[in-house]
Amino acid sequence: MDSKDAVPRSVWPAETEPGLIPTDDAMGIMTRELSPAAEAFVADAASAKLPLLDVGAAYGNATLPALAAGATVLACDLSASELAVLAASAPESHRRHLVLLPAGFPDGFTVGDGSLAAVLAAQVLHFFDGPAVERAFAAAHRWLAPGGAFHVLVMTPSLSYYSKLRGAYEKRAAAGERWPGIFDPRIVASPEWRDRLPKMVHLFERDILRRCAEEAGFTVEKLDYFCFRNFPAIHRTDGREYLTLAARKTAVGA
Ligand SMILES: C[S@@+](CC[C@H](N)C(=O)[O-])C[C@H]1O[C@@H](n2cnc3c(N)ncnc32)[C@H](O)[C@@H]1O
Repeated sequence: MDSKDAVPRSVWPAETEPGLIPTDDAMGIMTRELSPAAEAFVADAASAKLPLLDVGAAYGNATLPALAAGATVLACDLSASELAVLAASAPESHRRHLVLLPAGFPDGFTVGDGSLAAVLAAQVLHFFDGPAVERAFAAAHRWLAPGGAFHVLVMTPSLSYYSKLRGAYEKRAAAGERWPGIFDPRIVASPEWRDRLPKMVHLFERDILRRCAEEAGFTVEKLDYFCFRNFPAIHRTDGREYLTLAARKTAVGA
């Protein structure tokens, strides 16, 4: 049991490095520690009158505490087997508030416009190409109720071995490229990580993430650099390893 939110975690796969749990579809890792984006999503869950959507939910690091806070959660992931582990981790009494969506966001399923209290996409948009990121922001904006928030966590060119790509990123950004952060991660990944990553990774800086949110119609409330407290030293560089975003859909009458 985790003492904080009382959900059994014994069925989660073993950590490959402290705090990092491998996904089973070579899409990086799920962190045991919650990011600020996930914490804000769980806080929203406590007062939500509508369901919440966790995109790239994996084994449920954010979905499980959101269920424990009393919300109904749509947990979406490309990996049906990760979602099966999530479901097995959920206490019986929370399972009727858990909806599993083994499908790709944003094109593989749809929910009603204005039907969600909050959407979380933690460590997932950095696997999308530019147009898919734009469709993701547009879908989140459409599906959220007025006043709802889209919480996002993405990798930057400061994370771990991606810092070798910062020079290339900055050159592309200076040349005005719309998506300067798209790379093949396997050209820089350490051997033990190479097989745990997809063929494309999309690193973000603040200006690009802000543009995505604002072009979709959101108001940016928070856009900060972040690194996990419990994070292997080998992957830390300058404290700007991740970006966390809270973007809000305008409330009715605001
Ligand atoms: C790095 S894990 C993130 C897990 C967790 N959200 C976290 O922040 O620790 C990324 C997850 O996103 C899922 N994923 C990748 N692309 C997706 C998509 N288009 N729609 C839904 N899930 C996706 C992967 O299968 C994987 O389980």
